[in-house]
Amino acid sequence: MAEPKKLFIKTYGCQMNVYDSERMAEALGASGYVTTQSADDADMILLNTCHIREKAAEKVYSELGRFKALKAANPDLKIGVAGCVAQAEGAEIMRRQPLVDLVVGPQTYHRLPAMEAAVRAGARAVDTDFPQEDKFDHLPKGPRAMRGPSAFLTVQEGCDKFCAFCVVPYTRGAEVSRPVARVLAEAEDLVSRGVREITLLGQNVNAYHGDGAGGAWGLARLIRELARIEGLERIRFTTSHPNDMEDDLIAAHGDEPKLMPYLHLPVQSGSDRILKAMNRKHTAADYLRVIDRLRAARPDLLLSGDFIVGFPGETEADFQDTLALVRAVGYGQAYSFKYSARPGTPAAERAGVADDVASDRLARLQALLAQQQREIQEAMVGREVSVLLEKPGRMAGQMVGKSEYLHAVHVTDPRAKSGDIARVRIVESRPNSLAGVLV
Ligand code: SAH
Ligand code: SF4
Ligand code: F3S
Repeated sequence: MAEPKKLFIKTYGCQMNVYDSERMAEALGASGYVTTQSADDADMILLNTCHIREKAAEKVYSELGRFKALKAANPDLKIGVAGCVAQAEGAEIMRRQPLVDLVVGPQTYHRLPAMEAAVRAGARAVDTDFPQEDKFDHLPKGPRAMRGPSAFLTVQEGCDKFCAFCVVPYTRGAEVSRPVARVLAEAEDLVSRGVREITLLGQNVNAYHGDGAGGAWGLARLIRELARIEGLERIRFTTSHPNDMEDDLIAAHGDEPKLMPYLHLPVQSGSDRILKAMNRKHTAADYLRVIDRLRAARPDLLLSGDFIVGFPGETEADFQDTLALVRAVGYGQAYSFKYSARPGTPAAERAGVADDVASDRLARLQALLAQQQREIQEAMVGREVSVLLEKPGRMAGQMVGKSEYLHAVHVTDPRAKSGDIARVRIVESRPNSLAGVLV
């Protein structure tokens, strides 16, 4: 038998890309590839890229530059760019970086085996279509490559919301939901391989409306059906939009025990003027109302969010509204970014906020968010949580897992085994994790 070829995939960006990288590895598995952890011995390198901010996109070119020596040493090495930069820039990537053999967008990676064959035959291949067929129908049907007891499962892709700053509707295309039966089959397959926690993924996952028995199913109904799978203990979903937080989904946080008490609900800004300019189609008060209803259903819900500072036109008063919203919510964890103008988006045409002003706002916002995170973590000390143990930690004998609230929890105990859901008492809060002991 021929020696398997080695594939090195480096993943940037969101969880959707993490999921896609696994599926690309499976697709190329059919062409005789096994994955490797290092670029040095690879026969093919794939960068699965992110276009969300300028820095993310530029990283790709500096990374590609570093492969020059590898390609000189191994002329058979093939280099591919996948993901959202591939979709946004297409063949331009090859002009800018002649090392690149292959460019594939997020909706066409089921065609990778044919593209790989073309590239091996000496061609350069670009495919950034939005095809009619569903890539999931054309991916290998065999066992999903997955490691550990927690897995991602993409149920919805794309976005029709067109926030004024965002490239996702252009790189991922229109919003599409996978049919219920496919999602259930993939979940059952994952669980049969030892998965105990599934995170449902979508750029707008709570807009899910997949074909199911009797018509389109919403996300809440899908979650309730998934919860019936024996052996599946935990369900999460990300990322959600405040406008799609419907009644039954809010209710599920209170009455579906397998749905974990953590929610990532980006708001971007606390200023109604800026929210309008962002085309978010909700106000700060709308968002706070959704949060109140969620907390009424599930009082211990831990909230996470995304924020952009320095959006074109943002004044100090607008920024103060953002700080006020953050204080009103109390986030357990959050992501915050300086606005980055993205070519092709409506906001890119508008005059931006001075960079030093934006940096200063970002620092102030991050200080507040860090303080909230610390306070919420410190309040966990002495409490018992249940932790899905996932993998060995950095210290000898240490295991790392996730609490219901998605806190990373370290436990050092010979009885701690990957895949177990253990009762753990929290004994210490650290910068981005908690330490605990088995109860
Ligand atoms: N679908 C999700 C998130 C998409 S991208 C949602 O609707 O919220 C993840 C985050 O990146 C966004 O929530 C936003 O905070 C940030 N982001 C997106 N475009 C950006 C830009 N042009 N500049 C800075 N941050 C951006
Ligand atoms: Fe981007 Fe807005 Fe869609 Fe989220 S909802 S992916 S921020 S356009
Ligand atoms: Fe980035 Fe594309 Fe995800 S732009 S955040 S990888 S959808």
